[in-house]
Amino acid sequence: MDQLTVNQVTVQEIKLKEFCNSVWTRLGVPEKDAQVTTDVLVLADLRGVESHGVARLPRYYTDLKNGWTKPTDQSKIIKETKATALIDGGQSLGQVVGRRGMELAIKKAKETAIGIVSVRNSHHYGIAGYYSLMALEHDLIGVSMTNAAPLVVPTFGRTAVLGTNPISLTAPASKEKPFVLDMATSVVPRGKLEVYDRLKKKMPLGWAVDATGKGTSDPHTVLDALSKRLGGGILPLGGEGEEHSGHKGYGLALMVDVLCGVLSGSATGLGVDVDKAKPNVGHFFMALDPAAFRPLEDFKRDMDRLSQELKNSPKAQGQNRIYVHGEKSYARMEKCRREGIPVGTAVVESMRQVGTELGVPLSF
Ligand SMILES: NC(=O)c1ccc[n+]([C@@H]2O[C@H](COP(=O)([O-])OP(=O)(O)OC[C@H]3O[C@@H](n4cnc5c(N)ncnc54)[C@H](O)[C@@H]3O)[C@@H](O)[C@H]2O)c1
Repeated sequence: MDQLTVNQVTVQEIKLKEFCNSVWTRLGVPEKDAQVTTDVLVLADLRGVESHGVARLPRYYTDLKNGWTKPTDQSKIIKETKATALIDGGQSLGQVVGRRGMELAIKKAKETAIGIVSVRNSHHYGIAGYYSLMALEHDLIGVSMTNAAPLVVPTFGRTAVLGTNPISLTAPASKEKPFVLDMATSVVPRGKLEVYDRLKKKMPLGWAVDATGKGTSDPHTVLDALSKRLGGGILPLGGEGEEHSGHKGYGLALMVDVLCGVLSGSATGLGVDVDKAKPNVGHFFMALDPAAFRPLEDFKRDMDRLSQELKNSPKAQGQNRIYVHGEKSYARMEKCRREGIPVGTAVVESMRQVGTELGVPLSF
């Protein structure tokens, strides 16, 4: 975050996990499901997505405490074919439902070459990449998407109708790191605006619009108006209007809602995660076997070649390295596993508060 550095402490992965697991189990989540929920949160921190890591623990705590999230897995398969399934999440933890959905997609891909699972009536599931990464363990291509609460303004609009609806696709390689695309379909996630707001800084123009639909650099006004649903919001990838292709980011966000929302029958657009007592979030998972098309080793060899071509191509002035998606996160993960995970002190304090309420001591 360069000039946006916040106060941090460094915590060992195991300590962070122990605390999160104790919180979930204290709230009635079975040990196995507690571990899944924790793994998704901590993986986000390990990969450098702080906005979706343990910073989310207090929100999940509130949802569980209020009964808006069911602590035990209530998900059910509603409809199934050899290659597809529709799951109703039963308002259970999004991470638990998401993992179940991707496990089923993988099982089907191993039997038929493709598995597609659509999920309705779920919750915020964290980083999309957690689920697509699961496919790599089986040498499959993985896809994971989710719809989310409306924060994104459609091109030429002035109110948020779509979520930051992330897309993740992973593909295995051989000697190179696998391709791990994991991105919101908005210019930035809400968390970035929150960081600028906390530091009372102006954000770059091109991230968000105000209630009139005009670009603004004032994060506080945008966040305040979004929370009161007064208008304005975050821009889709590509930014404002058509000049820098905002309409394409808008199309990608809508594509995610078609696959996660309309296909599963969950809430869509304005209805997603708006009523905290009934969030009705939708997800989409796909696993695809490359070996159904070409020998797996040929596919992986060509992934390596493509990755090397990109990285060996000429660098822009002032740059000394080109990355392939996922590479930076792997490097960060290795560093954090060696040296500990940086966690903002404000996040630690909010976790400590939850711990105090539940009688779970926080030891960092
Ligand atoms: N559950 C939800 O509702 C929800 C909503 C939005 C986002 N998210 C999650 O938030 C996370 C952050 O999304 P984001 O859009 O801010 O991601 P980002 O902009 O940090 O990264 C996007 C992608 O670009 C890659 N990347 C980064 N720098 C690169 C470079 N120089 N060259 C090549 N590739 C590079 C990353 O590996 C990643 O795959 C994701 O994990 C996403 O799943 C979740």
